[in-house]
Amino acid sequence: MAETAAPHEFVTDTHPAPVDADTRTAMISDPGFGRVFTDHMASVHYHEDKGWHDAKIIPRAPLSLDPATAVLHYAQEIFEGMKAYRLADGSMALFRPEENARRFNESARRMAMPELPDGLFVESVKALVRTDAHWFPPVEGGAIYLRPFMFASEVFLGVKPSAEYRYLVIASPVGGYFKSGAPAIRVWTSEHYTRAAPGGTGAAKCGGNYAASLIAQAEATRHECDQVVFLDAAERRWVEELGGMNLFFLFDDGSIITPPLGGTILPGITRDSIITLAKEAGLTVREEPYAIDQWEADAKSGKLTETFACGTAAVVTPVGKVAGVNGEFTIGAGGPGQLTEKLKSQLVAIQRGDAEDRHGWVHRIE
Ligand code: PLP
Ligand code: COI
Repeated sequence: MAETAAPHEFVTDTHPAPVDADTRTAMISDPGFGRVFTDHMASVHYHEDKGWHDAKIIPRAPLSLDPATAVLHYAQEIFEGMKAYRLADGSMALFRPEENARRFNESARRMAMPELPDGLFVESVKALVRTDAHWFPPVEGGAIYLRPFMFASEVFLGVKPSAEYRYLVIASPVGGYFKSGAPAIRVWTSEHYTRAAPGGTGAAKCGGNYAASLIAQAEATRHECDQVVFLDAAERRWVEELGGMNLFFLFDDGSIITPPLGGTILPGITRDSIITLAKEAGLTVREEPYAIDQWEADAKSGKLTETFACGTAAVVTPVGKVAGVNGEFTIGAGGPGQLTEKLKSQLVAIQRGDAEDRHGWVHRIE
């Protein structure tokens, strides 16, 4: 049946035994991040001879993989992270999903994987949200976090791009990303580990980047920090980004710096949106390198008033303290700054349909 479906149409195989309403209510009452999942998933197969085929919404279930499946050996895998929101008028929406589709294909090209048509990407996410629309968590800042991903599924041990791939989307009702719920996070500057080198995979959202970051993230956790700050691989001097978020630095003259996209940091969609909103608010935004010692000096002199991290999962999160082997420094009063809060509330208001969507960022799910 599914084989005959048009490529952008998802045939739905409804779950025979979905989670019952009472259990679901309990599961989504305080979901945290990435631990609760909905009943279904989107699935599309790729074979180099057939292209993309068999687009379906199916019951979410464990995968059965041959031990020689290519992804298990050479990590040919990419993913995206985006959220579906329940708006005040009861409708559902995505935020700039075509940007996630575009970045997914940039990641695919870097990892020698086939591109997925943008329309198929966006429809996969929409079809899944429509099917599992009763899973929105009734919590402050709640959303359904969507995780589209693709992996090499050929059973073969030779080192070459796989001939077969599986694309899936899973959905997770979420609240805030940080467990601590503290008003500002504390970050750890990694001395030894870098995330991405020029010519590497830093701008791709591939699983391997995150695998390589875990030891540094674990070091951060050991030092009671929430996230790791990565410096550039060549000079160990320029601040690049956090393990899973981009960074913005705010100054007392109303200007803002964010590290430039040069292939070693992830081109965040939240980052891009914040740049637009800040410029509209009359702020000067400079995409330029910012050194770790300058960050400390500017925080100590008061020239730097605020720093925040941003991303789909973290939204906009103030950075209060920066720690490292040589001690720590505090930004502003160590809590959320005024401009950070203003930019955050502007962004969230657009995402949730509470402010005018002047840029056509909000994509309703009919
Ligand atoms: N940087 C990294 C390493 C990330 O994993 C993410 C999250 O996706 C971001 C930045 C922020 O990207 P976005 O705003 O598109 O979620
Ligand atoms: C996201 O924000 O979507 C990410 O992938 C980052 C990760 C820390 C969950």
